[in-house]
Amino acid sequence: MVDMETIVSLCKRRGFIFQSSEIYGGLGSTWDYGPLGVELKRNVKEAWWNTVVRQRGDMVGLDAAILMHPRVWEASGHVAGFADPMVDCRKCKQRFRADHLESLEKCPECGGDLTEARMFNLMFKTFMGPVEDEAAIVYLRPETAQGIFVNFENVRETMRKKLPFGIAQIGKAFRNEITPGNFTFRTREFEQMEIEFFVKPGEDEEWHQRWIQDRLEWYRQYGIQPEKLRLREHACDELAHYAKACTDIEYEFPFGWSELEGIANRTDFDLRQHAEYSGRDLTYFDDQTQERYFPYVIEPSAGADRATLAFLIDAYHEEQVRNEKRVVLRFHKALAPIKAAVMPLKRNEPRIVAIAKELADNLRKCMSAMYDDTGSIGRLYRRQDEIGTVWCLTVDFQSLEDQTVTVRDRDTMEQIRLPIAEVPARLKEQLDNAC
Ligand code: GAP
Repeated sequence: MVDMETIVSLCKRRGFIFQSSEIYGGLGSTWDYGPLGVELKRNVKEAWWNTVVRQRGDMVGLDAAILMHPRVWEASGHVAGFADPMVDCRKCKQRFRADHLESLEKCPECGGDLTEARMFNLMFKTFMGPVEDEAAIVYLRPETAQGIFVNFENVRETMRKKLPFGIAQIGKAFRNEITPGNFTFRTREFEQMEIEFFVKPGEDEEWHQRWIQDRLEWYRQYGIQPEKLRLREHACDELAHYAKACTDIEYEFPFGWSELEGIANRTDFDLRQHAEYSGRDLTYFDDQTQERYFPYVIEPSAGADRATLAFLIDAYHEEQVRNEKRVVLRFHKALAPIKAAVMPLKRNEPRIVAIAKELADNLRKCMSAMYDDTGSIGRLYRRQDEIGTVWCLTVDFQSLEDQTVTVRDRDTMEQIRLPIAEVPARLKEQLDNAC
């Protein structure tokens, strides 16, 4: 399996992910997505949105504000309970999450004594307006979910939705993690892709199982090797304060099996709490049974950064081709940051260059494409393989004669000739069929 150092180095070298504020020495565990990383992450989010919103009749979307009324976080239980136990080493001064340590006797780094565990709230606090006092405190949201719960009634009413239905949202979340790390796996600023799916009480367990299977299938559909995915049910003592049950989808990262997504049964906890704290009626009237009740909620909650990292790691392949190491990112076609790269066989032959540039322009109208003449064809192939470009198109002297180009497939390395005029439509068709 590829190690994290190789992935981090490829990400920097090829423009996927850079350290944040690097010219100032960086800011701990914050990362910037470069030109290829932003395309990849957008494709991951788009694939998720297409699957869970556009292709379903029982889902709608939302984009709520990051800053919310402070009472939201009292009602949700985050002010009182969103905390991790923290210990400090008295000798080397390092800080650890107590529940991540095997023993609380000695520091795992230097063997020094550890302090007693203290609870540390993970929410970032700031102040709204010019006055920095208690009354002006607001929090950066630690989950996008609450934006959905407080809009439950707005969405249900305006969209005339009946149970079961769900609301999906993609957005930033912030947690002052005690021990961030493993590249973009655990950071203090990250993006979530969350669904709150509202169901009739009593139907929640069945819906929970359906969502677990649907979400597992999504990762497989977009190319993650099935043997690298597994489900892990939470034990009672690890459940969040709002959950009756939770199953994680885990991926085998180079640092071990770790959570990609959690699918929780949040019961009616959140709607009940917000009804109580806001004084609003958030019950649902079931016109079939003529009953009023708080819907139960199934919550598939994924991290956009973690999913992107898993797709990157899983796509990474090294192979020997004619005594040379070939590095290739075998992304699913829909996720690849660049679908097609057009290259001229000779960059100082104006007729070839003109055809290649025109073809790249035509491809750009329907997919992410680039023109590249910055090296020999062999070098350009290697570079495009390393960023996962699906097709490399070469314009050569024969193109001048018969208006065809070679199309090289990233995965099979097979080369075929296609009429230039047909290339955009033929490749677009393959992309559409892949989704
Ligand atoms: N609303 C439920 C919720 O937030 P969570 O398990 O704390 O549940 C859901 O987070 C997902 O968000 C995780 O499975 C993970 O993919 C992502 N996530 C959570 N904390 C993260 C962090 N510090 N850095 C990156 N991603 C994170």
